[in-house]
Amino acid sequence: MPAAKKIVVLGAGNVGGTLAQRLAEMDLAEELVLIDIVEGLPQGKALDIQESAPILGFATRVTGSTSLDALAGADIVVETAGLARKPGMSRSDLLEKNAAILKGHALAVAQRSPSAIVIVVTNPVDVMTYWFREVSGLKPERVFGESGTLDTARFRTFVAMELGVAPRDVTGFVLGTHGDTMVPLLSLTSVAGVPLIGLLPPERLQAIVDRTKKGGGEIVELLKMGSAYYAPSAAQAELVRAVLLNEHRLLPVTAHLQGEYGQKGIYIGVPVVLGRGGVERVMVVGTTPAERAQFEASAMAVKADLEILAKLPRTA
Ligand code: LAC
Repeated sequence: MPAAKKIVVLGAGNVGGTLAQRLAEMDLAEELVLIDIVEGLPQGKALDIQESAPILGFATRVTGSTSLDALAGADIVVETAGLARKPGMSRSDLLEKNAAILKGHALAVAQRSPSAIVIVVTNPVDVMTYWFREVSGLKPERVFGESGTLDTARFRTFVAMELGVAPRDVTGFVLGTHGDTMVPLLSLTSVAGVPLIGLLPPERLQAIVDRTKKGGGEIVELLKMGSAYYAPSAAQAELVRAVLLNEHRLLPVTAHLQGEYGQKGIYIGVPVVLGRGGVERVMVVGTTPAERAQFEASAMAVKADLEILAKLPRTA
């Protein structure tokens, strides 16, 4: 029995298409619909994925549509639509353009699939998640954003490369916004339980932190057209599975804070427990004073973007 009836992926670009492929192969739902405004793109990618089913063995039915009516009955919606960064652009440069795209989607979700869980990945993700929640009127625990799981995967990868150990044995968290002010938590990183601090000299640790903060930009500079999608879609798929299988995973996401970490009413990256109802609870973890100060700087960056957002119209 699949875990869900219907998954909808909004946006059939590199992220949406790769995510749809991963989710189909995970066989989590009876139906997966890819939606995009470009006629033929969602249908073409969906059919291509569907044609891999005889070889890969999944049962999920994959279709594409250009109509937001296809949102009806979704258990979970992943919002990937919007413009990606070009070299030299910050994630905030995307804010106004992507807010306009997401507004239409948030209103459509509120009308057609109001009981869905929504995962937002469009950048700048902390602000776009806030915006999607506000425009849709959905409960805050049912709308959250993906960034921390990706940033943490990058951090874990760089630690594993440096130490020559299996990436999956490195665990840790990246707190804060998905931007230059994110906070990789060295104090909570371990290799199969062995604290990272002590395994590497401070300057190597700092180099890993710096590379993680620029992890998305490193890929943008290399690709020269568009941004990353293999690791992002892997992180998104992990969140979808955690929700649909009610796994109670402890994962960093962009979550609505109500006083935790000294912040109220904003969305920002923190570790949460994820299950079928979305964010079951925010986990407050111990941080050093320096990490705490960096988190506060990160929250300031989000609030600056929220001020830009506050000037935009909320209705259609
Ligand atoms: C990244 C972009 C997608 O981090 O934000 O790769």
